[in-house]
Amino acid sequence: MSQNGTITSYLDENRRFLPSKEFLATAGHTQSEFKHLQKLASGDPLAFWDQMARELQWQHPWTQTLQGEAPFVRWFEGGKINASQSCLDRHAHSWRKNKAAIIWEGEEGEVVTLTYGQLHKEVSEFAALLRSEGVGVGDRVAIYLPLIPQCAVAMLACARIGAIHTVIFAGFSSDSVRDRVHDSQCKMIITADGGRRKGKIIQLKKIVDDALSDIKEECVKTVLVYSHLKIDMAMKAGRDWLVSEKLAQLKNGDQSAASLDASHPLFILYTSGTTGKPKGIIHSTAGYLTQVSATAKWVFDFKDEDIFWCTADVGWITGHSYLVYGPLANGATVFMYEGAPLYPAPDRFWSMIEKHKVTILYTAPTAIRTFMQSGDEHIKKHDLSSLRLLGSVGEPINPKAWMWYHSVVGQDRCPIVDTWWQTETGGIMISPVPTMTATTPGSATYPFPGIDIDIFTQDGKTCEMNDGGYLVVKSPWPGMAQGIWGDNERFLDTYWSKYPSVYYTGDGARRDEHGNFWLMGRVDDVVNVSGHRLGTMEIESALVSHEVVAEAAVVAIDDEITGQALVAFVTLKNDATRDSSLHELLRNHVAQQIGAFAKPKAVRIVEALPKTRSGKIMRRLLRELAQSGQVHGDTTTLEDIGVLQRLKELDQEEA
Ligand code: PRX
Repeated sequence: MSQNGTITSYLDENRRFLPSKEFLATAGHTQSEFKHLQKLASGDPLAFWDQMARELQWQHPWTQTLQGEAPFVRWFEGGKINASQSCLDRHAHSWRKNKAAIIWEGEEGEVVTLTYGQLHKEVSEFAALLRSEGVGVGDRVAIYLPLIPQCAVAMLACARIGAIHTVIFAGFSSDSVRDRVHDSQCKMIITADGGRRKGKIIQLKKIVDDALSDIKEECVKTVLVYSHLKIDMAMKAGRDWLVSEKLAQLKNGDQSAASLDASHPLFILYTSGTTGKPKGIIHSTAGYLTQVSATAKWVFDFKDEDIFWCTADVGWITGHSYLVYGPLANGATVFMYEGAPLYPAPDRFWSMIEKHKVTILYTAPTAIRTFMQSGDEHIKKHDLSSLRLLGSVGEPINPKAWMWYHSVVGQDRCPIVDTWWQTETGGIMISPVPTMTATTPGSATYPFPGIDIDIFTQDGKTCEMNDGGYLVVKSPWPGMAQGIWGDNERFLDTYWSKYPSVYYTGDGARRDEHGNFWLMGRVDDVVNVSGHRLGTMEIESALVSHEVVAEAAVVAIDDEITGQALVAFVTLKNDATRDSSLHELLRNHVAQQIGAFAKPKAVRIVEALPKTRSGKIMRRLLRELAQSGQVHGDTTTLEDIGVLQRLKELDQEEA
C-alpha cells in the first residue's frame, strides 16, 4: 500500500521474546507499577497524563488538563512552567548536583563531562547572555551546531528565557539554513566555528555567513559563535560575537527562569513534507515535556546508574526528545558523540560503549544494518556487558536486523524497544515497555498508555485484523504538534482533513491477532533515507532549480542499508549539453541546495518522463523501473507508451 514501495509487513513473523530474567532482576521499574499506570490510562487517559505532568517542576499548577477540541487544544491550561527548571534546577539543587548530565566524546577521542550543577550554571549564564542581547519571550533563535554539549546549553537557555529555538541539523546546506531562518524570522543564530565528521572539518560559521548573505530583510541581528575547533573564521563587526568573550563581559545578568504558559511554544523544528517546502512544526512546553519525560522514563526504564546513549543528532526530533528534554527531565546521564559511526575504525561505537559503560543504546535501523554489514568481529572484541536495553527508531526494522541487534549487540539478554513516532507527535507513541511487553521482531508492538491509536480504512472505519490501512491518532495527546509555523492551512490540510478531528500520520500499518502494530512505511511522498526524513518533492525542487534541468521525478527504492534510497529521473532543457559529469554535478547540486545526506543515489538523465494524458508524471512506473528494471503495473493511462520503452532501453544501457 505504500506509494514508496516499502511494504514491509512481516506476516510470517511470530517469534516472541519476553523480557529476560536478567533484565527484570535489575530493571528500574516494576511490572506492577506499570500495570497500575496502564489501568489508570485505559480508564481515564486524562488522569493518567495529569499524573505524568505532576512529575515535572511547575511554577503554578494547571486548572484544566485539556482544553478545546482537536487539533487546537491546550494541555495543562492555566499552568505556568519553564522547561529548563524541570530539566536542570530541580536536579542541580538535589543530590544529583554532582551527577553527570552529559558525557560527550568528540571524534578525536576527547571527553567532556558536565554535571547537573555545571550544566545548570552554563545554561543560566547563557540565558542571561541571550537576554542581554535583546532576545525575549517568543523570539526565535536558530541553533546550528555540531553535536556538542553546547547544543543542549543553547536549547535550554532559550527555554529558560521563553525564546523559541529552531535547531537546524549541521548537515544542512547554507540554502537550507537561509530558508529556515527566514521562514521563522530568527533574531539570532547560535553556531560554532566548525564541526568534525569523518576526520574532516565542516566550517559551520562559513555556512551561516553564506546563508545570511542571501537574506534580504535583516531579521538576524546577532550571531553568537562557539569556538569549538579553534579554527580561523571571518567575523562581521557588530553582528558576530564569540560566546566566550560575551560571557566574560557579562556582569549580573538576569539568569532567572521565565514564567511561561503551559502551551508556550518551546521550539520549532523543520521537517519534510509532501511539498517542496519543509514545515516548521511547533511544539508546546508542558504537553511536549510531559510526553517525552514520561515515555523516556517508562520506555527506557531509567534508573539513576544508567548511561543512556541516543545516537541521533540534536538536529532531528529524536535528538530533541531523547538526547535533551526527555532524559534530562528524568535526571538521567546522557552520552553524546560528535562524529561518524565507523570512524576511525568500524568498532568505534562498541569501544565507546565499553569505555563509558553505556547501559541503554537507542539508534536507527540504518545504523544497525551498517554495523551488521561491517562484521561481528568488531563487536566481539569489546566488553558490552554494561548494556541492558536496546532501542530502535526512525524506520521499520526488518526482523533480520532486529535478530542481529538482539543476539550480537544485546547478547540475548537485552530487550529491544522499537519505538514508532514522528516529529509531529513530539514523543514516542507506539513501543514496547521493556519490563512488560513480549516483543516480536519487526513490530513496534502497542501504543503507549494514554495514546489512542487506530488503523483506518479509506472511509474512516477501523481495519479488520491483519488488513493494512492508515495509522491515525483518535484523541489528543500531550506531545502533539501545535501547528506549522506561519501556515495553519497546511497544518489542517496535511494532518486533520482526511478524517474529522482525527490525526492522520501518513504511515500505513496493520494490527495482528495479538494487537501488535506493524508499520508498513509512508503512504505519501515522504521517504526515509538512512533515518533522515526527506520529501521527494523537495529533491525535485532542488533539481529543477539547476539551469540545465527541465523536469525531475524522484522516487524511492528499497535499499539494504539505508532503508530507502533515492533515484532521480531528469530531463534536460533543449539547449543543455549532456556530458558524463552531469550526473555528479546534479547530485552535488542537491547537496548544495539541501545537504549532502539528501543526494540521490543515482541520477538518470532521460529524454522524457512517463506521463498520463492529463500531464501527471507516473512516478509509480519510474519506481518499478528503478527498483526492478521492469514495469509490471497498469500502463493504460500512459500518454506515450514509447517513453517507457526508451526508459527501459536506457536502463539496459546503464546496466
Ligand atoms: O514513517 C515513520 C518513520 O519515520 C517517520 C517519522 O519521521 P521523523 O518525523 O523524521 O521522526 C523520526 C524519529 C521519530 C514516521 O512517519 N518511523 C519512525 N519510527 C519508526 C518508523 N517507521 C517504522 N517503525 C518505527 N519504529
